[in-house]
Amino acid sequence: MTIHAIIMNNLHQLLLQRHSIRRYKDTPVDADAVKTILEAALLAPSSKSVRPWQFVVVEDKETLARLAECRQFGTKPLSSAAFAVVVAVDTTLTDVYVEDASIAAVLMHLQAADLGLGSCWVQVRNRFDASGESSEVVVRDILGIPEEMGIECIVTFGHIDEERRPVDPDKLLWEKIHIGRW
Ligand SMILES: Cc1cc2nc3c(=O)[nH]c(=O)nc-3n(C[C@H](O)[C@H](O)[C@H](O)COP(=O)(O)O)c2cc1C
Repeated sequence: MTIHAIIMNNLHQLLLQRHSIRRYKDTPVDADAVKTILEAALLAPSSKSVRPWQFVVVEDKETLARLAECRQFGTKPLSSAAFAVVVAVDTTLTDVYVEDASIAAVLMHLQAADLGLGSCWVQVRNRFDASGESSEVVVRDILGIPEEMGIECIVTFGHIDEERRPVDPDKLLWEKIHIGRW
């Protein structure tokens, strides 16, 4: 087996085991792992290599709790996260900022899984808080992020504190695959 084939196999195993993790242990994530996750974000491909994203790392529990208020539902992962990364993106630099920001977020999610850590995407763009305020505005205000920056999501991280079974490959939705034409 070539090195390439071994790597491919490991990635596929990771994809089968990966899950969104919403409950984390009350233990910090070591600094090397945080750095590796941030490197994954900075390694993300982007259209025309514009790299329009910027990332805000938040460890402070009080700030994480305030960020959780940016939406009425869906922010549970923030309540026990060891840290979170807010994925901001300059909407003036490219018309495909959603894609660019999303790819960076997913790479952090996969990198965390590869490190044996849990993570979860918390949607911010197109969402609202309990009073109807835009979640993006709420997050920008809390963290002092400039107005031209869109906020795609917040990715939470921590040591896994819930049981998730690997995906059964026999249950994949092959009916969604069309060969040659629809
Ligand atoms: C674009 C996107 C937005 C998501 N938003 C949230 C969210 O706001 N809160 C949350 O707990 N999970 C969120 N998730 C995680 C999904 O709920 C999760 O990926 C899905 O249920 C499948 O579960 P799995 O990741 O364990 O396979 C989001 C995922 C994606 C890709």
